[in-house]
Amino acid sequence: MIPHDPDRPQIDPRRLVRNGSERELYGLLCGTGYVPGEQVFGDFCESLKSGRAWLVSGTRGSGKTAFPEAVASACNLTMCVVSGRDGLKQEEILYDWDREEQEVWMRENLALAKELPASEQVELLETARKMKWQRQFLVLGEVALAYDLAAKAAQSAPRNPPPVLLLDESDKFGASIEDSLLMPLERGLIYIPRYENGCIGVADWESRPIVITTSNDLRHKLSGPFISRHIYTRFSNPTLEKELEILRARNPKASSAQLALSIKLLDAVRGIAGMEDHPSIRESIDVAGAFVRDSVESLDHRGLSRFFCYFVKTGDARELLGLQLDYLLAMTNAFNPVIDRCLAARDSEWAAKWDLAV
Ligand SMILES: Nc1ncnc2c1ncn2[C@@H]1O[C@H](COP(=O)(O)OP(=O)(O)OP(=O)(O)O)[C@@H](O)[C@H]1O
Ligand SMILES: [Mg+2]
Repeated sequence: MIPHDPDRPQIDPRRLVRNGSERELYGLLCGTGYVPGEQVFGDFCESLKSGRAWLVSGTRGSGKTAFPEAVASACNLTMCVVSGRDGLKQEEILYDWDREEQEVWMRENLALAKELPASEQVELLETARKMKWQRQFLVLGEVALAYDLAAKAAQSAPRNPPPVLLLDESDKFGASIEDSLLMPLERGLIYIPRYENGCIGVADWESRPIVITTSNDLRHKLSGPFISRHIYTRFSNPTLEKELEILRARNPKASSAQLALSIKLLDAVRGIAGMEDHPSIRESIDVAGAFVRDSVESLDHRGLSRFFCYFVKTGDARELLGLQLDYLLAMTNAFNPVIDRCLAARDSEWAAKWDLAV
């Protein structure tokens, strides 16, 4: 669990969108450096309003994990995280009983009972056995913790916002973990056998944790019932305008030349036939960052090959791109109506360079 900052005010994103302040939430996210796609953000707002979990799939580096992180940071919310991996156990995400503490408890009570008259011993031991299943002996995993925090937040006065629960890389969870999440995702509750209160969590949709589930669609196919408990969004490649906004937000020191160079280069690489593994936002942010670090404003053959390591991830792709150096260089130097107009709108020197009206 990553706790919220107690010295900063918290904002309830669900309340914001229910009150029609979606743009305010959008602005808060952008303030963290995360620039959501319009469609993606719209779907997220629907998941907030409905209280349903939000399932996002998309290629690596498309911003799936960074989105919930941005929500938690923008609104100062506690975040619980489950990272998918083989061998993840139910007790790690739901709950377990602290057996050692339970044993100590029973031993202590047995010792106490020995001091008592026989008639009182039975009653004391019976009570002790019942109390063995109290909250103090329950160890919550990240999912149960998120639902428990949400329940507590709902009961507080004034009401605190719920936490974010990130179920990251859910395609690595496997069937049994997915199945164990069906009940909390649908009912908001986790039933615990023998537990004195029966269950933890909160059934009210408005008070539930903000659950964001990500998937690369690689390892396992998610089950129908698991998917059906979510609002679904596919993270697709952003438009060039959006990518420019993202690069600018993530590399605030980048000049127009560096932004243009990175985005034109990566756009050209994505367009090359035969490239199987297209560079994502992650790579374009890295390339722009490298240009800023090395003060690169233009590229030649040698310079270009040096930066291949940021976005060429296989030997075959390197060979393929090695044959396209002239094309890539031409594209980085050519006028691109979308990119150059966007840059010119904010930079008069850039507008003059391309002879564009501001
Ligand atoms: N819309 C965006 N605005 C700002 N930054 C973004 C955006 N999308 C992606 N990024 C940045 O790109 C990088 C990769 O994002 P992230 O790790 O969230 O990708 P992912 O989809 O979770 O990838 P993977 O499937 O490999 O885990 C991060 O540094 C993230 O901040
Ligand atoms: Mg991720």
